[in-house]
Amino acid sequence: MSVFKNVLAIETSCDDTSVAIVRQDGFVLHGISSSQDAAHKPFGGIVPEIAGRNHTEMLLPMIRTSIEASELNWEKIDGLAVTNRPGLVGSLLVGVVTVKSLALAKGKPFIGVNHLEGHILAPFLKDADYTPPAGMEFPYVALAVSGGHSSIYHVKGLGNYEVVGRTVDDAAGEAFDKFAKMVGLGWPGGVHVDRLSRKGDPASFAFPRTMKGEDNFSFSGLKTAAQRMISQMTPLEITKNIENLCASYQEAIVDTLVTKLAAAVEKLKLQRVVLTGGVSANSRLRSVAAEYAKQKGLQLVIPPMRYCTDNAAMIGYAGILRFNRGERADDTLGVSPEVTL
Ligand code: KG4
Ligand code: ZN
Repeated sequence: MSVFKNVLAIETSCDDTSVAIVRQDGFVLHGISSSQDAAHKPFGGIVPEIAGRNHTEMLLPMIRTSIEASELNWEKIDGLAVTNRPGLVGSLLVGVVTVKSLALAKGKPFIGVNHLEGHILAPFLKDADYTPPAGMEFPYVALAVSGGHSSIYHVKGLGNYEVVGRTVDDAAGEAFDKFAKMVGLGWPGGVHVDRLSRKGDPASFAFPRTMKGEDNFSFSGLKTAAQRMISQMTPLEITKNIENLCASYQEAIVDTLVTKLAAAVEKLKLQRVVLTGGVSANSRLRSVAAEYAKQKGLQLVIPPMRYCTDNAAMIGYAGILRFNRGERADDTLGVSPEVTL
Protein backbone atom coordinates (compact mmCIF):
# COMPACT_ATOMS: atom_id res chain seq x y z
CA MET A 1 0.00 0.00 0.00
CA SER A 2 1.48 3.33 -1.00
CA VAL A 3 1.77 6.00 1.68
CA PHE A 4 -0.27 9.18 1.21
CA LYS A 5 2.06 12.15 1.60
CA ASN A 6 -0.27 15.07 0.77
CA VAL A 7 -4.04 15.48 0.68
CA LEU A 8 -6.29 18.26 -0.47
CA ALA A 9 -9.10 18.86 2.02
CA ILE A 10 -12.42 20.65 1.81
CA GLU A 11 -14.68 21.83 4.64
CA THR A 12 -18.10 23.29 3.84
CA SER A 13 -20.24 21.93 6.68
CA CYS A 14 -21.62 25.25 7.85
CA ASP A 15 -20.98 28.81 6.71
CA ASP A 16 -17.18 28.88 6.30
CA THR A 17 -15.69 27.70 3.02
CA SER A 18 -12.25 26.23 3.67
CA VAL A 19 -9.57 24.45 1.64
CA ALA A 20 -6.21 23.12 2.80
CA ILE A 21 -3.34 20.95 1.68
CA VAL A 22 -1.98 18.85 4.52
CA ARG A 23 0.97 16.51 4.86
CA GLN A 24 0.87 13.16 6.65
CA ASP A 25 2.71 14.63 9.66
CA GLY A 26 0.00 17.29 10.14
CA PHE A 27 2.00 20.08 8.50
CA VAL A 28 -0.35 22.45 6.69
CA LEU A 29 1.27 23.37 3.37
CA HIS A 30 -1.49 25.84 2.66
CA GLY A 31 -4.84 26.73 4.17
CA ILE A 32 -7.44 29.22 3.04
CA SER A 33 -10.83 30.05 4.56
CA SER A 34 -13.59 32.40 3.58
CA SER A 35 -16.02 33.57 6.23
CA GLN A 36 -19.62 34.26 5.22
CA ASP A 37 -20.45 36.25 8.36
CA ALA A 38 -21.21 39.40 6.37
CA ALA A 39 -23.71 37.56 4.15
CA HIS A 40 -25.66 36.12 7.11
CA LYS A 41 -25.41 39.09 9.47
CA PRO A 42 -28.52 40.91 8.16
CA PHE A 43 -30.58 37.80 9.04
CA GLY A 44 -29.17 37.43 12.57
CA GLY A 45 -28.12 33.82 11.94
CA ILE A 46 -27.02 31.37 9.26
CA VAL A 47 -29.36 31.05 6.28
CA PRO A 48 -28.68 27.56 4.86
CA GLU A 49 -29.54 28.45 1.26
CA ILE A 50 -27.18 31.41 1.26
CA ALA A 51 -24.43 29.25 2.78
CA GLY A 52 -24.77 26.59 0.07
CA ARG A 53 -24.84 29.16 -2.72
CA ASN A 54 -21.73 30.92 -1.44
CA HIS A 55 -19.81 27.63 -1.09
CA THR A 56 -20.63 26.90 -4.72
CA GLU A 57 -19.18 30.21 -5.84
CA MET A 58 -16.09 30.11 -3.62
CA LEU A 59 -14.88 26.55 -3.69
CA LEU A 60 -13.21 25.97 -7.06
CA PRO A 61 -11.32 29.30 -7.08
CA MET A 62 -10.10 28.56 -3.55
CA ILE A 63 -8.92 25.07 -4.54
CA ARG A 64 -6.99 26.57 -7.44
CA THR A 65 -5.43 29.16 -5.13
CA SER A 66 -4.44 26.55 -2.57
CA ILE A 67 -2.75 24.24 -5.07
CA GLU A 68 -0.80 27.13 -6.57
CA ALA A 69 0.22 28.53 -3.17
CA SER A 70 1.36 25.14 -1.88
CA GLU A 71 3.64 24.84 -4.93
CA LEU A 72 2.32 21.34 -5.49
CA ASN A 73 0.48 20.11 -8.55
CA TRP A 74 -2.25 17.51 -8.92
CA GLU A 75 0.37 14.76 -9.42
CA LYS A 76 1.66 15.34 -5.90
CA ILE A 77 -1.79 15.24 -4.31
CA ASP A 78 -2.46 11.66 -3.26
CA GLY A 79 -6.10 11.99 -2.29
CA LEU A 80 -9.03 14.24 -1.39
CA ALA A 81 -10.68 14.56 2.02
CA VAL A 82 -14.06 16.17 2.57
CA THR A 83 -16.34 16.81 5.54
CA ASN A 84 -19.48 14.76 4.87
CA ARG A 85 -21.10 14.88 8.35
CA PRO A 86 -22.54 16.48 10.46
CA GLY A 87 -23.61 19.89 9.20
CA LEU A 88 -26.09 21.69 6.99
CA VAL A 89 -27.03 19.24 4.27
CA GLY A 90 -26.99 21.80 1.44
CA SER A 91 -23.55 23.01 2.53
CA LEU A 92 -22.06 19.53 2.93
CA LEU A 93 -23.36 18.56 -0.51
CA VAL A 94 -21.35 21.29 -2.22
CA GLY A 95 -18.12 19.92 -0.74
CA VAL A 96 -18.92 16.27 -1.34
CA VAL A 97 -20.09 16.69 -4.95
CA THR A 98 -17.06 18.86 -5.72
CA VAL A 99 -14.69 16.26 -4.27
CA LYS A 100 -16.35 13.39 -6.11
CA SER A 101 -16.11 15.29 -9.41
CA LEU A 102 -12.47 16.23 -8.87
CA ALA A 103 -11.62 12.68 -7.83
CA LEU A 104 -13.17 11.35 -11.02
CA ALA A 105 -11.50 13.95 -13.23
CA LYS A 106 -8.04 13.59 -11.65
CA GLY A 107 -8.16 9.86 -10.87
CA LYS A 108 -7.69 10.34 -7.12
CA PRO A 109 -9.08 8.43 -4.12
CA PHE A 110 -11.30 10.33 -1.72
CA ILE A 111 -12.60 9.99 1.80
CA GLY A 112 -15.45 11.47 3.90
CA VAL A 113 -14.47 12.86 7.30
CA ASN A 114 -16.59 13.50 10.40
CA HIS A 115 -16.32 17.23 11.16
CA LEU A 116 -16.06 16.53 14.90
CA GLU A 117 -13.14 14.17 14.40
CA GLY A 118 -11.46 17.09 12.63
CA HIS A 119 -11.92 19.34 15.69
CA ILE A 120 -10.68 16.56 17.99
CA LEU A 121 -7.45 16.09 15.99
CA ALA A 122 -6.78 19.82 15.39
CA PRO A 123 -4.18 20.08 18.22
CA PHE A 124 -1.73 18.05 16.10
CA LEU A 125 -1.72 20.54 13.20
CA LYS A 126 1.41 22.53 12.55
CA ASP A 127 2.67 25.05 10.04
CA ALA A 128 5.50 27.49 9.38
CA ASP A 129 4.34 29.67 12.32
CA TYR A 130 3.14 27.10 14.83
CA THR A 131 4.34 23.83 16.34
CA PRO A 132 2.27 21.97 18.95
CA PRO A 133 3.84 21.94 22.43
CA ALA A 134 6.12 19.05 23.38
CA GLY A 135 4.15 16.14 24.76
CA MET A 136 1.02 16.80 22.67
CA GLU A 137 -0.07 13.20 22.13
CA PHE A 138 -2.91 10.76 22.88
CA PRO A 139 -4.71 10.40 25.25
CA TYR A 140 -6.41 13.65 26.24
CA VAL A 141 -9.70 15.25 27.17
CA ALA A 142 -11.02 17.59 24.47
CA LEU A 143 -13.62 20.29 25.00
CA ALA A 144 -14.96 21.15 21.53
CA VAL A 145 -17.15 24.23 21.77
CA SER A 146 -18.54 26.18 18.85
CA GLY A 147 -21.73 27.64 17.43
CA GLY A 148 -22.93 24.23 16.28
CA HIS A 149 -21.62 21.76 18.85
CA SER A 150 -20.39 21.51 22.44
CA SER A 151 -19.00 18.22 23.68
CA ILE A 152 -16.33 16.77 25.92
CA TYR A 153 -14.43 13.78 24.53
CA HIS A 154 -12.04 11.21 25.89
CA VAL A 155 -9.63 11.04 22.96
CA LYS A 156 -7.79 7.72 23.21
CA GLY A 157 -6.28 7.46 19.71
CA LEU A 158 -7.17 7.82 16.04
CA GLY A 159 -10.83 6.84 15.65
CA ASN A 160 -11.07 5.96 19.33
CA TYR A 161 -13.20 8.67 20.92
CA GLU A 162 -15.70 8.49 23.73
CA VAL A 163 -18.24 11.24 24.37
CA VAL A 164 -17.99 12.05 28.07
CA GLY A 165 -20.65 14.76 28.02
CA ARG A 166 -22.40 17.09 25.65
CA THR A 167 -24.98 19.81 25.57
CA VAL A 168 -28.52 18.46 25.50
CA ASP A 169 -29.81 21.61 23.80
CA ASP A 170 -27.94 24.76 22.67
CA ALA A 171 -24.25 24.79 21.83
CA ALA A 172 -22.10 27.18 23.90
CA GLY A 173 -21.58 29.51 20.91
CA GLU A 174 -25.30 29.51 20.25
CA ALA A 175 -25.90 30.50 23.90
CA PHE A 176 -23.48 33.42 23.45
CA ASP A 177 -25.03 34.44 20.14
CA LYS A 178 -28.63 34.30 21.35
CA PHE A 179 -27.83 36.43 24.39
CA ALA A 180 -25.96 38.94 22.21
CA LYS A 181 -29.03 39.19 19.99
CA MET A 182 -31.31 39.74 23.02
CA VAL A 183 -29.27 42.69 24.22
CA GLY A 184 -28.78 44.11 20.71
CA LEU A 185 -25.09 43.28 20.10
CA GLY A 186 -25.44 41.83 16.59
CA TRP A 187 -24.45 38.45 15.16
CA PRO A 188 -22.30 36.49 15.73
CA GLY A 189 -22.20 37.99 19.20
CA GLY A 190 -19.81 35.81 21.24
CA VAL A 191 -16.87 38.09 20.59
CA HIS A 192 -18.85 41.21 21.66
CA VAL A 193 -20.01 39.54 24.89
CA ASP A 194 -16.38 38.59 25.57
CA ARG A 195 -15.15 42.16 24.97
CA LEU A 196 -17.82 43.85 27.11
CA SER A 197 -17.42 41.29 29.89
CA ARG A 198 -13.86 42.41 30.52
CA LYS A 199 -15.20 45.61 32.15
CA GLY A 200 -18.07 43.89 33.98
CA ASP A 201 -18.53 42.17 37.32
CA PRO A 202 -19.38 38.47 36.81
CA ALA A 203 -21.14 38.33 40.19
CA SER A 204 -23.52 41.24 39.55
CA PHE A 205 -26.42 39.23 38.10
CA ALA A 206 -27.47 35.73 39.16
CA PHE A 207 -27.70 33.29 36.23
CA PRO A 208 -28.42 29.59 36.76
CA ARG A 209 -26.01 26.66 36.40
CA THR A 210 -28.14 23.65 35.51
CA MET A 211 -27.59 19.86 35.36
CA LYS A 212 -25.14 19.96 38.25
CA GLY A 213 -23.55 16.60 38.98
CA GLU A 214 -24.37 15.22 35.51
CA ASP A 215 -21.96 14.52 32.63
CA ASN A 216 -24.12 16.38 30.09
CA PHE A 217 -24.91 20.07 30.22
CA SER A 218 -27.58 22.48 29.06
CA PHE A 219 -27.78 26.14 28.14
CA SER A 220 -31.48 26.56 27.39
CA GLY A 221 -32.38 27.35 31.03
CA LEU A 222 -29.69 30.01 31.07
CA LYS A 223 -31.09 31.54 27.89
CA THR A 224 -34.62 31.56 29.30
CA ALA A 225 -33.41 33.16 32.55
CA ALA A 226 -31.66 35.86 30.54
CA GLN A 227 -34.75 36.44 28.42
CA ARG A 228 -36.86 36.87 31.55
CA MET A 229 -34.34 39.22 33.14
CA ILE A 230 -33.92 41.35 30.01
CA SER A 231 -37.69 41.62 29.47
CA GLN A 232 -38.02 43.22 32.90
CA MET A 233 -35.41 45.89 32.16
CA THR A 234 -35.86 49.11 30.20
CA PRO A 235 -33.57 49.70 27.20
CA LEU A 236 -31.72 52.31 29.25
CA GLU A 237 -31.20 49.89 32.13
CA ILE A 238 -29.86 47.28 29.70
CA THR A 239 -27.43 49.79 28.20
CA LYS A 240 -26.26 50.95 31.63
CA ASN A 241 -25.73 47.39 32.84
CA ILE A 242 -24.50 45.83 29.61
CA GLU A 243 -20.99 45.06 30.86
CA ASN A 244 -22.23 43.46 34.07
CA LEU A 245 -24.94 41.53 32.22
CA CYS A 246 -22.41 40.18 29.72
CA ALA A 247 -19.86 39.27 32.39
CA SER A 248 -22.47 37.46 34.53
CA TYR A 249 -23.96 35.55 31.60
CA GLN A 250 -20.53 34.65 30.24
CA GLU A 251 -19.47 33.44 33.68
CA ALA A 252 -22.40 31.01 33.78
CA ILE A 253 -21.30 29.46 30.46
CA VAL A 254 -17.61 29.33 31.37
CA ASP A 255 -18.32 27.99 34.84
CA THR A 256 -20.51 25.22 33.39
CA LEU A 257 -17.93 24.26 30.76
CA VAL A 258 -14.92 24.23 33.08
CA THR A 259 -16.81 22.41 35.86
CA LYS A 260 -17.80 19.67 33.39
CA LEU A 261 -14.30 19.56 31.94
CA ALA A 262 -12.80 19.22 35.41
CA ALA A 263 -15.22 16.41 36.27
CA ALA A 264 -14.20 14.57 33.09
CA VAL A 265 -10.49 15.00 33.80
CA GLU A 266 -10.92 13.73 37.34
CA LYS A 267 -13.02 10.77 36.26
CA LEU A 268 -10.60 9.75 33.49
CA LYS A 269 -7.43 10.65 35.41
CA LEU A 270 -5.79 12.21 32.36
CA GLN A 271 -3.02 14.80 32.32
CA ARG A 272 -3.77 16.64 29.08
CA VAL A 273 -6.67 18.92 28.12
CA VAL A 274 -7.43 20.43 24.72
CA LEU A 275 -9.79 23.32 24.02
CA THR A 276 -11.05 23.67 20.48
CA GLY A 277 -13.91 25.20 18.45
CA GLY A 278 -14.75 28.89 17.92
CA VAL A 279 -15.73 29.48 21.57
CA SER A 280 -12.19 28.57 22.67
CA ALA A 281 -11.39 32.15 21.56
CA ASN A 282 -13.26 33.33 24.65
CA SER A 283 -10.79 35.09 26.93
CA ARG A 284 -12.57 34.13 30.17
CA LEU A 285 -12.80 30.45 29.17
CA ARG A 286 -9.09 30.50 28.37
CA SER A 287 -8.10 32.10 31.66
CA VAL A 288 -10.35 29.93 33.86
CA ALA A 289 -9.21 26.76 32.04
CA ALA A 290 -5.56 27.86 32.34
CA GLU A 291 -5.96 28.52 36.06
CA TYR A 292 -7.57 25.10 36.56
CA ALA A 293 -4.84 23.34 34.55
CA LYS A 294 -2.12 25.14 36.51
CA GLN A 295 -3.65 24.21 39.86
CA LYS A 296 -3.88 20.56 38.87
CA GLY A 297 -0.56 20.38 37.01
CA LEU A 298 -2.22 19.48 33.68
CA GLN A 299 -1.03 20.29 30.18
CA LEU A 300 -3.52 22.65 28.49
CA VAL A 301 -3.29 22.85 24.70
CA ILE A 302 -5.30 25.37 22.67
CA PRO A 303 -4.52 25.25 18.94
CA PRO A 304 -4.13 28.62 17.16
CA MET A 305 -7.51 30.12 16.27
CA ARG A 306 -7.12 29.27 12.57
CA TYR A 307 -7.30 25.58 13.60
CA CYS A 308 -9.95 26.04 16.33
CA THR A 309 -12.63 27.58 14.12
CA ASP A 310 -13.99 25.52 11.25
CA ASN A 311 -11.11 24.80 8.87
CA ALA A 312 -10.16 22.29 6.18
CA ALA A 313 -6.70 21.54 7.62
CA MET A 314 -8.20 19.50 10.48
CA ILE A 315 -10.27 17.55 7.92
CA GLY A 316 -7.16 16.93 5.84
CA TYR A 317 -5.23 15.60 8.81
CA ALA A 318 -8.02 13.24 9.90
CA GLY A 319 -8.39 12.21 6.24
CA ILE A 320 -4.73 11.46 5.58
CA LEU A 321 -4.40 9.40 8.78
CA ARG A 322 -7.41 7.36 7.69
CA PHE A 323 -6.13 7.01 4.09
CA ASN A 324 -2.90 5.64 5.52
CA ARG A 325 -4.90 3.06 7.47
CA GLY A 326 -6.28 1.89 4.13
CA GLU A 327 -9.67 3.59 4.29
CA ARG A 328 -11.36 5.00 1.17
CA ALA A 329 -14.84 6.24 0.27
CA ASP A 330 -16.64 5.06 -2.84
CA ASP A 331 -19.02 6.71 -5.28
CA THR A 332 -21.95 6.24 -2.91
CA LEU A 333 -20.53 8.63 -0.29
CA GLY A 334 -23.41 10.76 1.03
CA VAL A 335 -23.91 13.51 3.60
CA SER A 336 -25.65 13.54 6.97
CA PRO A 337 -26.80 16.17 9.47
CA GLU A 338 -26.68 13.62 12.33
CA VAL A 339 -24.19 14.16 15.16
CA THR A 340 -22.74 10.70 15.71
CA LEU A 341 -19.64 11.71 17.64
O1 KG4 B 1 -16.10 27.15 15.32
P1 KG4 B 1 -16.86 28.35 14.82
O2 KG4 B 1 -16.09 29.41 14.10
O3 KG4 B 1 -18.03 27.93 13.89
C1 KG4 B 1 -18.97 26.96 14.22
O4 KG4 B 1 -19.96 27.32 14.88
O5 KG4 B 1 -18.74 25.77 13.88
O6 KG4 B 1 -17.57 28.99 16.11
C2 KG4 B 1 -18.35 30.15 16.03
C3 KG4 B 1 -18.95 30.42 17.39
C4 KG4 B 1 -19.99 31.54 17.36
O7 KG4 B 1 -21.12 31.12 18.10
C5 KG4 B 1 -19.27 32.70 18.01
O8 KG4 B 1 -20.12 33.61 18.66
C6 KG4 B 1 -18.39 31.99 19.00
O9 KG4 B 1 -17.92 30.85 18.30
N1 KG4 B 1 -17.26 32.83 19.42
C7 KG4 B 1 -17.10 33.25 20.69
C8 KG4 B 1 -15.93 34.07 20.69
N2 KG4 B 1 -15.43 34.09 19.41
C9 KG4 B 1 -16.26 33.31 18.66
N3 KG4 B 1 -17.82 33.03 21.79
C10 KG4 B 1 -17.39 33.60 22.93
N4 KG4 B 1 -16.30 34.40 23.01
C11 KG4 B 1 -15.54 34.65 21.92
N5 KG4 B 1 -14.46 35.43 22.01
ZN1 ZN C 1 -17.07 23.08 13.91
